[in-house]
Amino acid sequence: RVLIVDFGSQVTQLIARRVREAGVYCEIHPFQSAAEAFDALRPKGVILSGGPASVLDHDAPSAPPMVFETGLPVLGICYGQQTTAQQLGGTVEGGHPAEFGRAFVEIHEPSALYDGIWSVGERHQVWMSHGDRVTRLPDGFAVRATSPNAPFAIATDEERRIYTTMFHPEVYHTPDGAKLLKHFVVDICGCRPDWTMAAFREEAIGRIREQVGDGRVICGLSGGVDSAVAAVLIHEAIGDQLTCILVDHGLMRMNEAREVVDLFRGHYNIPLIDVDASDTFISALEGVSDPERKRKIIGSLFIDVFQEEAGRIGTDGKGEPQFLAQGTLYPDVIESVSFTGGPSVTIKSHHNVGGLPERMNLKLVEPLRELFKDEVRALGRELGLPDAFVGRHPFPGPGLAIRCPGGITREKLEILRKADAIYLDEIRKAGLYDAIWQAFAVLLPVQTVGVMGDGRTYDFVCALRAVTSVDGMTADFFHYDMDFLGAAATRIINEVKGINRVVYDVTSKPPGTIEWE
Ligand code: XMP
Repeated sequence: RVLIVDFGSQVTQLIARRVREAGVYCEIHPFQSAAEAFDALRPKGVILSGGPASVLDHDAPSAPPMVFETGLPVLGICYGQQTTAQQLGGTVEGGHPAEFGRAFVEIHEPSALYDGIWSVGERHQVWMSHGDRVTRLPDGFAVRATSPNAPFAIATDEERRIYTTMFHPEVYHTPDGAKLLKHFVVDICGCRPDWTMAAFREEAIGRIREQVGDGRVICGLSGGVDSAVAAVLIHEAIGDQLTCILVDHGLMRMNEAREVVDLFRGHYNIPLIDVDASDTFISALEGVSDPERKRKIIGSLFIDVFQEEAGRIGTDGKGEPQFLAQGTLYPDVIESVSFTGGPSVTIKSHHNVGGLPERMNLKLVEPLRELFKDEVRALGRELGLPDAFVGRHPFPGPGLAIRCPGGITREKLEILRKADAIYLDEIRKAGLYDAIWQAFAVLLPVQTVGVMGDGRTYDFVCALRAVTSVDGMTADFFHYDMDFLGAAATRIINEVKGINRVVYDVTSKPPGTIEWE
């Protein structure tokens, strides 16, 4: 195992991704609690992340001293390099020309850090992003590579196995970065690359059995990948002690609820209660246009309906449920490093079903807490879920309600559902589905004039959205070929009554968000 000490970089999670892709388990902990994590995890190596602070600041974050004292290999990246230098007796200064973005490092000396990957005399592309820099190294360290603005691009103490880089090996724009990180965790730290989904499945099943014993578990299925994978895994562990509940709020995509029901009943034979509550939800939402109100109404109705169904489960003579399963993922669990101290601004409230466990007095079973999204997909495949299901784009809890800005009506939802299905069908046919993080249609509350045949139309505008992203935190709009967009638009206008104009959203995140509401 490897411990990643987080100093608040935007890309710390990518370090963990790269380490796990190398087959090694790792955990991210904020610098404030890294000492306890170090004791609990007993890592074979430590990686210090980048971060926005300056080591020159009063109260600058630092690594727990034991990181350097126990003789384990350490890799300090960017801020991690600066704090390493500072903590071990070197000097860091600000006010140098900042190097952002692409840079080239030139290798002057060999180092175990890139042994077998980079050689002396070579130049390699890396990604830099910092203004402060080390100006005097601690005893035992030497410079191994430089770049024009970074005389200490790589500095290491080979004897103590402390390696530092001013660049970010974890980002995509450092082409050899994944290899360097793998080499660090496997060859230098000596971790066995045996963190696979098959191994995880076995371990997770054991943990679920231990936690649940002969208790009963209920699990809400959303139609998405996470809750489905959690449910299949738990069913494998405890069989029919699990009951799933699917609340169809009428805001899902075309056929989505049906597909999940068929998969669970037909293929896996997992006990499933499916409730068609679409009338309740849509009546409550009719005419509501404020996005946060929509979320609140959906969230609280969901809890009511779910609680009612769950209450019934206990009356079948097999006992009351004591556990609630959730498909919580690692990015929701990682405690984030905050430098502002104050509360962060709420952009959107995503906690659709927050409060449910307390209200029902249930303990949580969260078997996916340690996994990233793509690991959950790999686990889903390992458990035999169909590829098309496992590869589904993320879908928000409030569903189509937040893709229908303005007041919601049943009719609008139907129009939107049809347009969305055609759009996704075109994307799949063009072989683009897996290259896109999320793609969906939005039905705008605007009518425009058109002409069809000889007649005038006055119908709604449909906006198409598609983004690429690694985690949904930032996103770029997807660059389609115009012919593709033209063909998709034509099909939507021809086949969906109520839409006579289609536009494409070219906003990235930031400044936009992925969803329109
Ligand atoms: P935004 O729109 O904030 O979305 O850029 C980021 C990711 O979160 C999803 N999303 C939601 N998921 N409940 C959810 O479960 C919500 O209320 C919600 N709002 C946005 C969105 O689909 C994207 O993947």
